[in-house]
This record gives sequence, C-alpha cells and structure tokens, in this order.
Amino acid sequence: MQTVAVIGAGQMGAGIAQVVAQAGIRVLLSDVSLEVAEGAKAKITKGLLKLVEKGKIGEGEATDALARIAPVGDYAPMAEADLIIEAATEREEIKHRIFDAAGKVLRGDAIMASNTSSIPITRMAVSSPDPARFIGVHFFNPVPVMKLVEVIPGLATSAATVAAVKDFVARLGKEAVQSEDEAGFIVNRILVPMLNEACFVLGSGTASVADIDKGCRLGLNHPMGPLELADFIGLDTCLEIMRVIHASTGDSKYRPAPLLAKYVEAGWLGRKSGRGFYDYSGEAPVPTR
Ligand SMILES: NC(=O)c1ccc[n+]([C@@H]2O[C@H](COP(=O)([O-])OP(=O)(O)OC[C@H]3O[C@@H](n4cnc5c(N)ncnc54)[C@H](O)[C@@H]3O)[C@@H](O)[C@H]2O)c1
Repeated sequence: MQTVAVIGAGQMGAGIAQVVAQAGIRVLLSDVSLEVAEGAKAKITKGLLKLVEKGKIGEGEATDALARIAPVGDYAPMAEADLIIEAATEREEIKHRIFDAAGKVLRGDAIMASNTSSIPITRMAVSSPDPARFIGVHFFNPVPVMKLVEVIPGLATSAATVAAVKDFVARLGKEAVQSEDEAGFIVNRILVPMLNEACFVLGSGTASVADIDKGCRLGLNHPMGPLELADFIGLDTCLEIMRVIHASTGDSKYRPAPLLAKYVEAGWLGRKSGRGFYDYSGEAPVPTR
C-alpha cells in the first residue's frame, strides 16, 4: 500500500492520517474544504512536535511523516489512492454522499473503507462502486495511542479485501479484531449503552457528574468515568451511535437518554466544543452539574 486517502479530518481523520504517515505511507487528507484539511495538518504538526519534545520520536521521523501528508481540496487526487478511508461526521446521509462522489475516482483495484462507529457496512456499501471492495475499519480515539482496530466486512465484502485491510492494520502496528456487521460492532455495542446509561443516571438526579465518574473510576477500575469519556468521544457521536443501535435493533433498551439529546441540541458536544458534561474553558475541566 503506497497511498491512502482520508476523508474527514476531525479528531479521528487527523489521527488516522498521522499514524498512516508515520508508517511510511503517503496520505491525501481532505475535509469540507482545503482550509479545514490544512488546519488539521497544522494540528497534526503540533501533536508530532510534542512527541519530539517528549523524546518519544526523533525529529526526522516527525518531519518525514509530515512530508507524507498532503491536504487536498477535492476528490480528483484520490484516483491515486490504494485505500480511501472515510472518517467524516457520524451521519449516514453525509457518508452516502461521500461514497458516491469518491467512488467516481476510486481505482478499479482500490478499497473503500468507513471508520463509522455504528452504521451498518452492508447498507453503506450500496453507495460505493463495488461492495466487494467496501469494508469497515474502526479505529479508536486517540488513534496514535489506541492499539485496536475493528475490521467489519459487509455482506458482499470479498476475502481479499478483508486480508488487505488486516495487512494494513498490522503495518500500522495495531491489533485487529473482526466483527460481524451488526450496529455498534463489538466495542461500541457494549460501551456506548453504558455511557448512555450514565446520562440517564445523571438526568434522574441520582448523582452529580463528579460522583458518577468517580464511582466508575474507583468502583470499576475504569481509567476514565463514563461522562468524561462521552465528552472525549463527542456527545453528538455518542447520540448518533445510540440512535443507530436503537433503530437497527428496535429494542427500547437502547433509546438515547433525553439529557444526552438535549446537550447535543444545545451545541454542548464535549471537549471538541469546549463544553459537555464538563466545562473545558479553564486550566482543568469543571463538572457542570
Ligand atoms: N470520536 C471518537 O471517539 C470516534 C472513535 C471511532 C470512530 N469514530 C467515527 O469517526 C468519524 C469521525 O468522528 P470524529 O470524532 O473525528 O468527528 P469530528 O466531528 O471530530 O470530525 C468530523 C469531520 O468530518 C468533516 N466532514 C463533515 N462532512 C464532511 C464531508 N461531506 N466531507 C468531508 N468531511 C466532512 C467535518 O468537517 C469534521 O472535520 C465518525 O464516523 C465517528 O463515528 C469516532
């Protein structure tokens, strides 16, 4: 694999671009505009320079990785990509539009993948030119730190596509697990209903944000409490995942917590918007309830 295109340069797309470039592969990075993609590259630059300062990587590694990342303003250059990874906002209609448009330049032997957290792969594959070459590759946040990648073949995904993507994951130094194409796959099907339940617990006034998080950190030995983690993932992403699991199972136990929906309606999306269950405007996060 020589060239990978990443569509959507938010926290996940930028992280994927960084690890792919560090693995020696050229990256074409895009978002809604060239300016946004360039802004994402500037953030990656800052992150890599911090790693150099901490002595975790050499200056040469950082410079070489950055030289491999090219922000692009449209899909045409992606005709060179061996793999296109979509990592845009977790909204199915946005993703279908991307697969349709990027599919027009996808090479006949190239693979198209989605980093979706929950949307069924088989359903999205219909918007790509060849469902045999369409697959889910689900990275975890923050991408440079988290070892796991879930690999999710859709109904029509070929064995060759699965094998090529597993090779790619190994080349990044990450571990793959394979999941059937069920909403939420393995990890989010277990995790996000728990985060949603923490929102129900908060909404019913059982405990404060600080005590819910402290309870799970100390009582379950989790490194982060569920509300901190929901803020870290993005409350909009958590809400969409619950909606997808709820709609595809039809099981009311997966209904999104009203408080979670309200926070998203208020634009309180967690860390990325500066406020969620915590306020991030000061030096340290402050619980808001
Ligand atoms: N946040 C997490 O912890 C996490 C973990 C694994 C997977 N994911 C998945 O990764 C994807 C991205 O999540 P994120 O957390 O990076 O979100 P984010 O909000 O940080 O970034 C989304 C990016 O997509 C861009 N975008 C929107 N429409 C676009 C379009 N039409 N074309 C190109 N770019 C477009 C936005 O401008 C934004 O930069 C989602 O599918 C999400 O479910 C998220």
